Amino acid sequence: MESIMEELFRQHRDAEGMLVKLAAGVKRVEREGVNGAGVLDHLRDLRRAIQGEVLSHFREEEQALFPVLGRHIDSASGPIAMLMEEHAIFRQLELQFEEAVAALEAGLRDGWEEKLCDAAGSIARLLPLHIDKEESVLFPMADDVLSADEWAQVRRLWNEALAAVQPA
Ligand SMILES: [Fe+2]
Repeated sequence: MESIMEELFRQHRDAEGMLVKLAAGVKRVEREGVNGAGVLDHLRDLRRAIQGEVLSHFREEEQALFPVLGRHIDSASGPIAMLMEEHAIFRQLELQFEEAVAALEAGLRDGWEEKLCDAAGSIARLLPLHIDKEESVLFPMADDVLSADEWAQVRRLWNEALAAVQPA
């Protein structure tokens, strides 16, 4: 079985793959507008990818890795607090993206294409930096301080976080 760490790294690579698709989606909106053939479908796919992959990845980190790591390092300040804050910013941007897709689906055009591109642009700018912080600071820290028992605990919490959102 893949270790939690391997899974986290893999999810980050998936998120980077999503960003490539996001950039392509924005380009299409800018070039063709949402009335272009298949452009709205492309945006719906992106919405699904962000909701399904990125947000569930955040949840797994927040409900499994961060709490266990928080026993070793202060979680009210320092890297955990900073990363949690960034997760909150991404959730906000994701909501803006969703809202814009919904407005465009409803046929509204007044400024919504621009809002969608703005939200996507912010996600594309900030997410790679966020991933880099986790991979260069937090994950090595977890590797250093967590015992095998604690990793098993992370695994348990991780499975619980998954079970809470997926129907059995
Ligand atoms: Fe992450």
